[in-house]
Amino acid sequence: MKPERNTNKLAWEEAFDRVDSKDLERVLEQLKHDPGSFLSETMKRELGALAGQDRSVAQFCCNNGRETISALSLGFKHAVGYDIASNMVDFGNAMAEKLGVEARFIQTDMLELETHERYDAGFLTVGSVTWFDDLGLLFKRIAHAIETGGCLVIEDIHPIMNMVAIPGEQNYEKNHPNNLVNDYYRKEPWVEKDGMFYMAKQVYESHPFTSYSYTISDMVNGLIDAGFAIEAIFESSTDRSAQFAHLNDSGIPLTLVVRARRL
Ligand SMILES: C[S@@+](CC[C@H](N)C(=O)[O-])C[C@H]1O[C@@H](n2cnc3c(N)ncnc32)[C@H](O)[C@@H]1O
Repeated sequence: MKPERNTNKLAWEEAFDRVDSKDLERVLEQLKHDPGSFLSETMKRELGALAGQDRSVAQFCCNNGRETISALSLGFKHAVGYDIASNMVDFGNAMAEKLGVEARFIQTDMLELETHERYDAGFLTVGSVTWFDDLGLLFKRIAHAIETGGCLVIEDIHPIMNMVAIPGEQNYEKNHPNNLVNDYYRKEPWVEKDGMFYMAKQVYESHPFTSYSYTISDMVNGLIDAGFAIEAIFESSTDRSAQFAHLNDSGIPLTLVVRARRL
């Protein structure tokens, strides 16, 4: 594994260790009472159209497994989640057992994924694509795991938002929060050491998280090169990342959804 990805593994595991256990209990309760509720309406619509009692679904970069189990509830026979963080995968497996659902979780670096399984549907949710220095290779690994004719649905931060500073960043301007302050074509990685706030609910000195900017063409061409046909693209002005909620409905595309079919 490349050193940056190994450090990301440590950083994500550290973040998960800092999650309040009450938050994790709430995840379990929410899955019991409203199982689909961890997915956006768009993702529910997209995955719901692919579901069936003889069909399987996989989530790549699944975190604690809540979205994978949500997807299962849309009507798939079984679900598998992949993530680099061992403790998240362990938590996902324990949660699936408690809920008695057909979901399994597997630890892997997505860029090293090798599986004999072929899923009818695959998905990536917000905050997944940014961890890969080689998006083309990510999509090739995923393509290998999707059945011919099956679909991959990606819902992630709109690439244009890499140009906008997040509150708390040095170049964030409170009075002009939508200023385009970063290079859209940025190649050098982002390295952050102040924790994963949305999980730990606190800022802390953490192992470094290394992430990368990507452009729309990186995504579209990466999918095409990997053997997918793009079927639909949706852009929305609703933030799903908890980083740009202050820009909701301000005329800026915050979230990008792509449906791609495996040829
Ligand atoms: C922001 S989450 C995305 C899932 C979901 N939206 C969420 O917030 O729970 C990103 C996930 O990607 C995982 N990840 C990062 N790098 C990875 C890699 N190289 N292979 C597999 N998973 C990775 C992290 O462990 C983390 O759980």
